[in-house]
Amino acid sequence: MTPLLIVSGASRGIGRAIAERALARGFSVGAVARTAEDLATLQALAPDRVEVAVADVRDAAAVAAGAQAAIARFGAPTLVVAAAGLLGPIDRPWLLDGDALAETLAVTVAGTANLAAATVPAMLAAERGTFVAISASSATRVFAGWAAYGAAKAGLDAYIRYLAEEAGPSLTAFSFVPGLTDTAMQAGLRAVDAERFPQVDQFRRWHERGIAKQPAAVADALELALALPREELHGQVVEADALLKAQAQAARRAEA
Ligand SMILES: NC(=O)c1ccc[n+]([C@@H]2O[C@H](COP(=O)([O-])OP(=O)(O)OC[C@H]3O[C@@H](n4cnc5c(N)ncnc54)[C@H](OP(=O)(O)O)[C@@H]3O)[C@@H](O)[C@H]2O)c1
Repeated sequence: MTPLLIVSGASRGIGRAIAERALARGFSVGAVARTAEDLATLQALAPDRVEVAVADVRDAAAVAAGAQAAIARFGAPTLVVAAAGLLGPIDRPWLLDGDALAETLAVTVAGTANLAAATVPAMLAAERGTFVAISASSATRVFAGWAAYGAAKAGLDAYIRYLAEEAGPSLTAFSFVPGLTDTAMQAGLRAVDAERFPQVDQFRRWHERGIAKQPAAVADALELALALPREELHGQVVEADALLKAQAQAARRAEA
């Protein structure tokens, strides 16, 4: 049987790049997102190896049904990646709308917990598996206006530490920080006004200069991470940029 990746946020951006990379590596993919048309284009890449779940990650029953369909078809997942996410409301912390903040927390933290509930028992039963949550540096570093996003990602990192601690030795669980990546999320951010997001001009300049990496580079970095020993990952927050920089330095040394 082919190894199985189950990934949320598989419709576009980083989750999509990770799904496509896994297909290229011979994995089967259980793809979770809300946009059926985008999941259909993913499925068209390898119809016999993609199980689509059109689901909102906040809907535990829909996520469980989607994961179960993939597991029934392809076996216990080797890798699960929780990439579904949203920036949420951008504003000063005291001006945030509580309902919008709750939505960000629900998608980020509860959505990841729903994905874990749907997949970790099968990995524990198979006595192997890796669970990766796509986090962000804003969990520990303040970008003015991003309190909702930062709170959600900090909550996500805490959830992953608990998962790592409590799941036992057969599961590897870690947070993975992509760093600045050229996706729809970044486009949305550049459209925010400077009143609510004071650093917006800098993000717009970075975009003009093409500073952001492409989503495929995050898939490269995740492959580098997954090759590391478990003790360097488990319960940790692993940064894509550090891994890509180390790889580039090693390549330069090899050339010299
Ligand atoms: N881009 C960056 O610079 C950057 C940096 C650090 C961390 N990240 C993180 O990387 C992850 C992917 O973001 P991205 O940049 O690739 O953004 P993106 O292009 O906007 O993709 C977001 C993905 O999340 C899915 N999603 C959002 N809400 C969902 C929900 N309620 N239920 C199911 N799926 C949902 C979307 O699918 P549907 O809309 O089809 O449901 C989409 O596939 C996020 O966790 C983000 O926080 C991104």
